[in-house]
Amino acid sequence: MRKPIVVGNWKMNKTPEEAVQLVAELKPLVAGIEAVEIGICPPFVCLTEASKLLKGTNIGLGAQNMYWEPEGAYTGEISAEMLVTSGCRYVILGHSERRAYFGETNATVHKRLEAALQSGLSPIVCVGETLEQREAGKAEEVVADHLRGAYEGISATDAQKTVIAYEPVWAIGTGLTATPDQAQEMHAFIRKILTELYGDSVAEGVRIQYGGSMKPGNAKELLAQKDIDGGLIGGAALQAESFTGIIKGAL
Ligand code: PGA
Repeated sequence: MRKPIVVGNWKMNKTPEEAVQLVAELKPLVAGIEAVEIGICPPFVCLTEASKLLKGTNIGLGAQNMYWEPEGAYTGEISAEMLVTSGCRYVILGHSERRAYFGETNATVHKRLEAALQSGLSPIVCVGETLEQREAGKAEEVVADHLRGAYEGISATDAQKTVIAYEPVWAIGTGLTATPDQAQEMHAFIRKILTELYGDSVAEGVRIQYGGSMKPGNAKELLAQKDIDGGLIGGAALQAESFTGIIKGAL
């Protein structure tokens, strides 16, 4: 059985002070939930404070990006080691906003994935097609390409430590959600690609999150699908009640 994993991607929202407040609100609401793995990914500048507040709780900490080099003259970048020592367990890689606005490609996602795994982080690898690509009948091709590009050369043992987030770009922050059937179909396809790459047992073990306008009102139905093992939550993760509502939908 795959344990559902629900992670909040705060994106560029919340100052350190606001982050402390949100974490303080969230902790009691989700206290005692063990059947769902819970994580939050605040902005870099909030990690240290958040980490202190999350010690000993059932909420794991993550970052939204990292650079693949271990250290050096890379102005503005953050290494995997910096994340680990700031208390992170997770790192989101290859989010569509990074692909669209910051030049992220399959090749750079792959380098980040290797470095994250080497540092012991649990990477959340994002894949997903744009509306244009879906309408052109290319959704599966694009998702397969994202997967093959990221995982090329990654061992089965390492692949097992990763989480995949299927995030159709047209559903992110738009209020448009993939229907449970649409999402399930793509999740099953992702598992098929994983089988091709790593065989059945790895493919059956890797958790695949859905992301894109997931809310308390639609979470239960999405999470009830056979191959949907959790959610990567943007907007609805910015309020403790709505994030908790989604987590409870996975119970
Ligand atoms: P959304 O974002 O929930 O606001 O659509 C999801 C994501 O981009 O991870």
